[in-house]
Amino acid sequence: MTQHFQTISVFKKDPYKKILTFPQVTESEITKRMVELRKLGITHISFTGPLQIEKCHILGKGYVGMVVLAKKRSRVVALKIRRTDSPRKNMTNEAKLLKTANKLEIGPKFIKNSKNFLIMEYIDGEKIIDWAKKSETKAKEIRSVVKNVLRECFLLDDAGLDHGELSTIDKHVIVNKKGNTMIDFESSSENRKPSNVTGATQGILIGTGLAKIIQKKIKIPTKKKIIDLIRIYKKNPTLENFESLIVGLKL
Ligand SMILES: Nc1ncnc2c1ncn2[C@@H]1O[C@H](COP(=O)(O)OP(=O)(O)O)[C@@H](O)[C@H]1O
Ligand SMILES: [Mg+2]
Repeated sequence: MTQHFQTISVFKKDPYKKILTFPQVTESEITKRMVELRKLGITHISFTGPLQIEKCHILGKGYVGMVVLAKKRSRVVALKIRRTDSPRKNMTNEAKLLKTANKLEIGPKFIKNSKNFLIMEYIDGEKIIDWAKKSETKAKEIRSVVKNVLRECFLLDDAGLDHGELSTIDKHVIVNKKGNTMIDFESSSENRKPSNVTGATQGILIGTGLAKIIQKKIKIPTKKKIIDLIRIYKKNPTLENFESLIVGLKL
């Protein structure tokens, strides 16, 4: 991916301003957000990435944010920009939950946040589903990544942090040569009973597009066997039951 950094003043121009204030562009919001970016120390932006929105390439887009490659002085980072129509009023809660995940060495490293922005470590890689699809991705690597995703899920369950979006895990795990990183703690909560292991196991192995791809590469138990294993863990989410799940899934 070629990185061509421009100073953040490009955000004041078309078509880039649509990314800074997506989807409703107003001059007053642009001005406010430019001040906020300068305060955070963001100096440059690079419009590169797999997704094209309004003629701009970006790293990704969700219901809460637009994610672009940026520089905080000399450090390359991922910048999540709150959408103007986001259901979240600010990035405070996501920042807090990402910091909690980071304590367990999970997620992109949190760097800084403000009302409308969250700066975090840039994870260079592919979505798990695109990675799993490739012919060069072998069974052994798939087993290792799935096992590590579930291990992180167990750590989160154990810490009482529910990610909230692991049934759509294909969008929320990035894989690269160094391993896998869970992203997007926007829907996370410390006030619900966590269901990371159960949600992720189903999202990876049962009935999803990702499951179909994975089943072609590794042999997994029957749906009934998987559901039985999940049930035992769900009733009593101990390390012992988690390990039985991993053994039962033949990972
Ligand atoms: N730290 C990161 N490094 C690289 N890409 C990222 C990073 N965080 C998010 N992305 C990309 O941006 C997309 C949207 O981010 P996400 O946090 O899921 O937003 P939302 O909360 O709006 O769903 C992701 O699916 C991913 O492709
Ligand atoms: Mg998301």
